Amino acid sequence: MVALSPRSLGQELLGRRVALRPLRVGDYRDWLEVRTRAREWLVHWEPRRAGGQYPAEDRSSFAARCAMRDRDRQLGTAYSFGIFVDRTFVGEINLSSIQRGASQSAYLGYWIDEAHAGRDYVPESCVVVFAFAFDELELHRVQVAIIPRNRPSRRVVEKLGLVEEGLARGYLEIDGVWEDHVRYAITAEDWAERRETYEADWLRPAGA
Ligand SMILES: CC(C)(COP(=O)(O)OP(=O)(O)OC[C@H]1O[C@@H](n2cnc3c(N)ncnc32)[C@H](O)[C@@H]1OP(=O)(O)O)[C@@H](O)C(=O)NCCC(=O)NCCS
Repeated sequence: MVALSPRSLGQELLGRRVALRPLRVGDYRDWLEVRTRAREWLVHWEPRRAGGQYPAEDRSSFAARCAMRDRDRQLGTAYSFGIFVDRTFVGEINLSSIQRGASQSAYLGYWIDEAHAGRDYVPESCVVVFAFAFDELELHRVQVAIIPRNRPSRRVVEKLGLVEEGLARGYLEIDGVWEDHVRYAITAEDWAERRETYEADWLRPAGA
């Protein structure tokens, strides 16, 4: 069992430009504003879940979601973060389905507001989460699964040099369809080998 520091349980993880922290009920208005504006941008890449409906976005559902994620964090089963740039909420990144035992693995998922896309904020956030996953949680493997036609998301993992491991058929329900996904992964050995480069390229202030 990994001993978690107060930082792990919470609170803020910093990249060069991004700050990652768990969402709180007080973030609801900002979150809803982005989700409403970016709905068409996001809807084709997200699950619908319950009864084929899109997840509810009212305040009480958001509060329940924050509470559930706090509980996951306490249990060590998932760590979910809002992505903030200059204190503005721009997206989310989640380390989920954490398996311990012989696996020591997790899945990484992410999205960003269309208005902030194309500025490398998500790859930077991924590196922040890799540092957390490997150095603090001591996981051995972080996996990302992507629908083959999602070129922007594949660019994210390509930029980070994640290894493509093949196609998983009917892997996740996305927008009501069981979609095949290309699986990518980074292991603790990859992280140890490339940590310096990742930190220089994505985390330290430019020129530091
Ligand atoms: C995939 C996603 C998270 C990438 O985040 P990001 O911070 O924009 O990532 P990057 O800045 O590295 O951009 C990745 C690629 O997106 C493409 N892109 C950039 N701006 C774009 C825009 N406004 N619209 C569409 N694609 C764009 C470019 O091909 C870019 O690659 P490049 O930097 O080599 O030109 C983001 O596009 C997104 O949230 N999409 C909708 C939800 C989603 O697909 N989630 C992932 C599911 S696996």
